[in-house]
Amino acid sequence: MEAVLSSNPRTQPAFRLAMVIVALTLPFSSGCRSAVSDTPVGPPIRITPPLGLPPVPIPADNPPTAASIALGRRLFYDPRLSRDNTVACAHCHDPRLGFTDGLRLSLGVGGLTGIRNAPTLANAAYAPLQFWDGRASSLEEQAASPIADPVEMNQPHDVSVSKLASDPTYQAMFRQAFGSKGVSLSRVEKALASFERTILSGDSPFDRYEYGGDKQALTPAQIRGLAVFRDPTRGNCTACHTIEPTSALFTDGNFHNTGEGVDDDGKFKDEGRFLKTHVKADLGAFKTPTLRDVANTAPYMHDGILKTLKEVVDFYAGQGNSNPNLDPAMRVIRLSGEDRADLVEFLKALSGPLPPNLGPPEKN
Ligand code: HEC
Ligand code: HEC
Repeated sequence: MEAVLSSNPRTQPAFRLAMVIVALTLPFSSGCRSAVSDTPVGPPIRITPPLGLPPVPIPADNPPTAASIALGRRLFYDPRLSRDNTVACAHCHDPRLGFTDGLRLSLGVGGLTGIRNAPTLANAAYAPLQFWDGRASSLEEQAASPIADPVEMNQPHDVSVSKLASDPTYQAMFRQAFGSKGVSLSRVEKALASFERTILSGDSPFDRYEYGGDKQALTPAQIRGLAVFRDPTRGNCTACHTIEPTSALFTDGNFHNTGEGVDDDGKFKDEGRFLKTHVKADLGAFKTPTLRDVANTAPYMHDGILKTLKEVVDFYAGQGNSNPNLDPAMRVIRLSGEDRADLVEFLKALSGPLPPNLGPPEKN
């Protein structure tokens, strides 16, 4: 192993010395390479998760600060990121609707629709991959996509950047957040992502029952529903919507085929995870959504086709829809009439108070 490694030119002393010199000079020369640095400055903020959530993962190059979060919040509610100044992120991710839009398919600029239902942004901070098909690997990477998407905000990135750069309030906010003047797409992405990392949903009746020691927090029907949810011979729901010993995200962050969206000849209108991986087994697989706040985020599924929690539970009672890629965990589900009613009650116990400071910022 050693021998192989030392034959690598990168481990030769001269090469290492050169790297040290490059590393030392980089901070001073970076001004020439790109117009603006995009690491937030100032003391990072500790984001304290509510009861029932694990620590929030933070990327090393985007520590959230008071200034970057405030900037992200302003951007999130700003329709100027769209072509005709009518569609903000919040248009489709409305805090009053659990950060969704209550529609089957979202309406973008000019009333155009895409093919997917807007997911909640609550706890998106924990997802290893973003979107129903996981095509973005971070909140930062995700953020640029709706801005330019023709059926969402439909505005080229350079236009968004120059619109923001001409606004004195933004000029000041970007300087405060990043330590120098200038707007860039990367700065916009980082600020939006830091704001999104504060959208945390926990401390629900379920959390108070499960992690807070309050055995009165759930109703008897909800307690029965929780047992069905966990029981591998009945709901088997935790096979994908996970509950851990000290926290629960209600998602494994993974992709599964439940048969939702399969048509009569076994084809998927939306190929899901396959579109990203081109692996056959991923045909019709979608990211397991969190179930937090699920009572406020109807309609359901990647295509928004199921209107109520009762419809979702009835879908599972039929063990999903058969197709060659159906996830094996779907086949074991066996639900009585009472189990179904109890499950619906349990799903209503997953809504908690959202933190303050998530709504539209004060006008300035
Ligand atoms: C026109 C409606 C619309 C607008 C505007 C919009 N989104 Fe979305 N958002 C969606 C839809 C629909 C999806 C799911 C798309 C998919 O999975 O292919 C989504 C997915 C996401 C996700 C992934 C969540 C997950 O669980 O995978 C994040 C994060 C997100 N949007 C943030 C934003 C931000 C930030 C903005 C503003 C820059 C924004 N959205 C603007 C409709 C919208
Ligand atoms: C094999 C993994 C798996 C199992 C088991 C499973 N789910 Fe799901 N669940 C998913 C996936 C994947 C989706 C999204 C499917 C889609 O949109 O095509 C989903 C969607 C949902 C939704 C809609 C959420 C939303 O925001 O649209 C609810 C509610 C739900 N599941 C509840 C349950 C319940 C209750 C059980 C147990 C009876 C269960 N799930 C079992 C993987 C699973």
